[in-house]
Amino acid sequence: MFAIRLSGDESPGTRVLPVDGSGVLAGGDEETAELVRTAEDAGRAGAVQVLPRPLRTPARLLLAGVGAADEGGWRAAGAAVARTASGDEPLDVLLPDRITPAAVRGLAEGLWLGGYRFREAPKPPRSATVTLRTEDATAYAESLETARVTAAATWLARDLTNTPSAVKNPAWFAGQVVAEAATRPGVQVTVRGPEQLAAEGFGGILAVGGGSATPPRLVELAWNPPGATRHVVLVGKGITFDTGGISIKSVDGMKLMRKDMAGAAAVIAATLAAADLNLGVRITALAPLAENAVSGAAFRPGDVITQWDGATTESTNSDAEGRLVLADALGYAVAELNPDVVIDLATLTGANSVALGKRTAALYSQDDGLAGDLAAAGEAAGEQMWRLPLPDDYVQYLDSEIADRHSSPTQGAGSVVAALFLREFLGDRTDRWAHLDMSAPSWAEKDDADLTKGATGWGVRTLLRWLALHGG
Ligand code: BES
Ligand code: MN
Ligand code: ZN
Repeated sequence: MFAIRLSGDESPGTRVLPVDGSGVLAGGDEETAELVRTAEDAGRAGAVQVLPRPLRTPARLLLAGVGAADEGGWRAAGAAVARTASGDEPLDVLLPDRITPAAVRGLAEGLWLGGYRFREAPKPPRSATVTLRTEDATAYAESLETARVTAAATWLARDLTNTPSAVKNPAWFAGQVVAEAATRPGVQVTVRGPEQLAAEGFGGILAVGGGSATPPRLVELAWNPPGATRHVVLVGKGITFDTGGISIKSVDGMKLMRKDMAGAAAVIAATLAAADLNLGVRITALAPLAENAVSGAAFRPGDVITQWDGATTESTNSDAEGRLVLADALGYAVAELNPDVVIDLATLTGANSVALGKRTAALYSQDDGLAGDLAAAGEAAGEQMWRLPLPDDYVQYLDSEIADRHSSPTQGAGSVVAALFLREFLGDRTDRWAHLDMSAPSWAEKDDADLTKGATGWGVRTLLRWLALHGG
């Protein structure tokens, strides 16, 4: 990770000068002003111009476009600068007078997020020293710390999601959470293995995990600060690999299914970061972890599964496995944890991207306030979501002849009926629940602004914003 510091002193590194959307430059001279005048889009957020200055100090200038100079514009600039200044080149970023703390947060998040590399990658992460030059370091210290914790949590979620599934079986994933929790006082973690899951009736998790050589786990991670009045339960789908099971996927459909635990990674990373930021809200993260494998022990299409809450599900398609593990966790959360709000994140359906494309999650909630707050948190954080309906007249599609409901209707719309299935397990908390189908934005096909190719860590930033603003 870049070492980013605030200082009033000029550093010897490559000078970074911001240019806003109207072409106004902070700290430039005649030469740079001329460059901005001639380059058409110098001020576009994320545009970078490189100006070599042989035999002069500094030897390079970067003109970084910040667009509207809001948090998002600065985030885009930070990410672009992180990529342009590859290697160990120290950077000296000139902050304009009176830049807002939010903009500094955006800049720092952009630098760190754009500079991400997978922890097992052959190349180490970028590691230069970045000086953010300002006369008023104290005004921005908190922004920088919040950005650091947020980016580190996003890195953790990306690392977990990028890890190959031969490594990240459920026990390994649980072990990672235990190790992370151990470094944080005030955070507790409980891991249930297959025997305990059986004893307590987590039938969905056991069915989905039953075909794998690496048995399932349920991770329960708790942050319970003194004086907290609200309890938020975060649930994340944690399928460590999704073959589709006996309803097996195609080669194309399966190739990226190591990412099918991105929801679990996001809720775990956000909860750990909430502890790092000492947020005053009680949080329990539940991560049902299972590998949906093909074997003689795998559950079958047409099997009837008894979920944690006692309801039965006819599993008509073993590829609709995420909702089965989530159903157990949601039922347990509502009955045992007395939550004020339940939010689940899941790479639940391919239909998410059919409806909304590659960058936008589907948001479901019957609580207009919660839906609006989450969407606003996502907007501020740079993560998009769009609300879709929960139409009561589609509930009939869940009807089964042999069980309370069946898991994978062929009518309705894929992402919507999956959400309706989940809602069945919310008991008396249906109005205090939100579901994010984040199949699409959990992965990027290429580097794109603050996203790096591969796992995006989608949801960590949104959850942290929302928790900081509305959790307390
Ligand atoms: N993990 C997949 C959904 C998915 C697909 C996530 C593509 C990310 C990218 C999920 O378990 C799944 O297979 N869903 C099925 C549901 C269907 C069988 C009802 C789907 O979307 O096809
Ligand atoms: Mn599946
Ligand atoms: Zn899946």
